[in-house]
Amino acid sequence: MSTFPKHFLWGGAIAANQAEGAYNEDGRGLVQTDVTTGGTKNSPRFTTYIDKDGKPGKYASMGHMGGHLPEGAEYAVLDTEYYPNHKAVDFYHRYKEDIKLFAEMGYSVFRLSISWARIFPNGDDAEPNQAGLDFYRSVFEECRKYGIEPLVSIWHFDTPLSLETRFDGWNNRRLVDFYVRYCEVIFKEYKDLVKYWLTFNEINNTIMFLDMFGEQPDEAYQSAYQQLHHQFVASAKAVKLGRAINPDFMFGNMICGITFYPGSSDPADILLNEHAWQQNIFYCGDVQAKGRYGSYAKRLWDAHNVTIQMEEGDLEVLAEGMVDMYTFSYYMSTVITTHEVDDKVSGNFSVGARNPYLTYSDWGWAQDPTGLQYYLEKIYDRYEVPLMVVENGLGAFDTVEEDGSIHDDYRIDYHRAHIKAMADAIANGVDLIAYTTWGCIDIVSAGTGEMRKRYGFIYVDMDDEGKGTMERTPKASFHWYKKVIASNGEDLD
Ligand code: BG6
Repeated sequence: MSTFPKHFLWGGAIAANQAEGAYNEDGRGLVQTDVTTGGTKNSPRFTTYIDKDGKPGKYASMGHMGGHLPEGAEYAVLDTEYYPNHKAVDFYHRYKEDIKLFAEMGYSVFRLSISWARIFPNGDDAEPNQAGLDFYRSVFEECRKYGIEPLVSIWHFDTPLSLETRFDGWNNRRLVDFYVRYCEVIFKEYKDLVKYWLTFNEINNTIMFLDMFGEQPDEAYQSAYQQLHHQFVASAKAVKLGRAINPDFMFGNMICGITFYPGSSDPADILLNEHAWQQNIFYCGDVQAKGRYGSYAKRLWDAHNVTIQMEEGDLEVLAEGMVDMYTFSYYMSTVITTHEVDDKVSGNFSVGARNPYLTYSDWGWAQDPTGLQYYLEKIYDRYEVPLMVVENGLGAFDTVEEDGSIHDDYRIDYHRAHIKAMADAIANGVDLIAYTTWGCIDIVSAGTGEMRKRYGFIYVDMDDEGKGTMERTPKASFHWYKKVIASNGEDLD
């Protein structure tokens, strides 16, 4: 007997801007990653522009988190730069081949995102783009052909660039209406093809990200909390609207799940750690899964003189638009302390002290399956709604052997340990219903823009300069995961 429930959903996950490519085909509008270069672990990605005098320029950025253009400059694609997301791994043209491979692994779920800019190129166009609607219909039909349930992120770090430029993105309340309109179109269009929807990918990054770069001015917090309020309202309105369109829809939030540990038993560390959970993890989870701001929210706002502009009725909207399930990504844990730290490590939008009990990936991300069990048990206890792990994986260098095979045992070890941790959490009473590994096929890294930071069970022949055939090759992990799925999580050897 497997510990995993009978209808547990096994699969993988990708995001539109990291996988599709075809950035300027069939009427798609631009998004931030289209004007973002590649980087590495130690060198940032850059956002490119033309300044007011017509001169090209660039600034270090986190791409999707948005930077600031010099006065009078405009985002631009420059001939002198390489943009990895333009081609990505060409899922746009190869989705049939890819979904066939996912089906071969035995997937019952496939998480992907819809690119808002394929549906509304400018975000607020009078009519949706038919070619964009047709593309996702065809993708969902292809999934259904193999009995694969699509799990759809409505927004994965890709607000249409035009909305960023004209409205200052999510700082502007008008984005709520544009987002809800986009939702209405896709909910109606795909109501018979898609059941599971996630409103905003890793919504909490907006706040977590600030602390990564040390002391920030109060305005940065004001903007981050205000943007989040707009996204909470947009999410809740979308949930309400979606339920009216199809009562069978299931909605999830999506949190960047990081397990925070106190660096010592110093009570000050314990308290700081609890406050880190509140700011980074619970703040968004509570609004979306409990329908209200937590009691500690005022403390977080006051610490940075933040005043949230709310409209009358917003709090009722939040209460009415609670999600049905809590979904999250999990890659790593981090350590928080009030004491001086010599050895800091950063990864996935967080920075903390090195944990001597853990090993670290080549990109410095802590490998901590017990942290996943801890997170699952803590979160389930708090919300008591079904949970989904919708991202989990190891970004690693892969070597293609002479005979073309790829022996990614390190990746198998990583997933095996995390699946065991999930089984233990389920045995302890957690209602976990799905697992979608990140980058089931190699895709462009969100953080660094690299191809060589590979997560997939399927290798894609593409490098960091855009050279490669795009040929797909199953890795050893592909065959391993197929056995895992066939045995419903029992056979992990
Ligand atoms: C999550 C994002 O933060 O982590 C993904 O939802 C991202 O888009 C993933 O790709 C892994 O991060 P990275 O930087 O290794 O691609």
